[in-house]
Amino acid sequence: MEPILKTINLTKTYDQHIAVNRMNMSISKGEIYGFLGQNGAGKTTAIRMMLGLVKPTSGEVEMFGEKITKNSFRAFERVGAIIETPGSYKNLTAYENLDIHRRLMGISSKSSIEETLELVGLLEVRNRKVSKFSLGMKQRLGLARALLHQPDFLILDEPTNGLDPQGIKDIRHLLLDLAKHRDITILVSSHILNEIEQLATKIGIIHQGQLLEEMNMEQLRQKNRHFLEVTVSNDQHAAFILQENLGIEDYIIIESGKIRIYERMDESMMINRTLVENCVDVAELVFHKGNLEEYFLDLTGGNAVV
Ligand SMILES: Nc1ncnc2c1ncn2[C@@H]1O[C@H](COP(=O)(O)OP(=O)(O)O)[C@@H](O)[C@H]1O
Ligand SMILES: [Mg+2]
Repeated sequence: MEPILKTINLTKTYDQHIAVNRMNMSISKGEIYGFLGQNGAGKTTAIRMMLGLVKPTSGEVEMFGEKITKNSFRAFERVGAIIETPGSYKNLTAYENLDIHRRLMGISSKSSIEETLELVGLLEVRNRKVSKFSLGMKQRLGLARALLHQPDFLILDEPTNGLDPQGIKDIRHLLLDLAKHRDITILVSSHILNEIEQLATKIGIIHQGQLLEEMNMEQLRQKNRHFLEVTVSNDQHAAFILQENLGIEDYIIIESGKIRIYERMDESMMINRTLVENCVDVAELVFHKGNLEEYFLDLTGGNAVV
């Protein structure tokens, strides 16, 4: 996969405080990368460096294979971004706001304005003043501005901040649609695990300036799968019974006498009975619900990410 963005030991220090600490991030084409971390973790600082708005103390950012400085206009032409709450001209309409942006960006075609308004669901209110907009509509307008020049890569810093559940859902569907049908790669930051979980294909967890973990959503779900844990008198024999009598293959012996079973968890009574009937004593049989939230809490030392 073609890398869209890479950071190499990216670091930003303010006086004695390290806001971003030797961060190595990588985003490939087509991904929706969820950048997750609690407030103050360093997300906005990292994103500002990606966009050439803040100069790294050390390390670097590469976008579309090019090293980023504040003058990397060729790369920036291919990027659309929202950082924190996007500002607009309140006394102008949505259409007028985008028209100003169109001229600033040197986009000749006016039709791009209506196309983009349609895309973000604001076409019908295009002639309404932004002062009359809800927060959700303002966020959509920000997104429209980021999309107007048809970027290949969207960078969105907490785009759902302050939105109600419906607004959050709308933005999520819009982003999923952009990734799927327009082939846009997306970096989206959030401090809310649940939002990232429902959106991202890859996740990067930042805590106190450090990227603690970066993995595919699929891998993460695997790691946090539900399982049945059986405590038995003889794990080898129990494993044999599971396999031979029940055809269960997806299990591991995690320690002496403890087996985790990852399939057919709704048949726990039958599993129990079969083991007992085959001379394996079952001391305990417990269902564990895989929980991403707990996983993150562990990872970030008990400081809530959610
Ligand atoms: N311009 C700045 N001057 C000093 N400290 C800053 C500045 N910008 C950010 N910080 C500090 O860097 C850390 C990371 O902030 P930020 O990147 O905004 O985190 P996030 O976006 O994840 O909430 C915070 O401790 C913040 O106070
Ligand atoms: Mg921030």
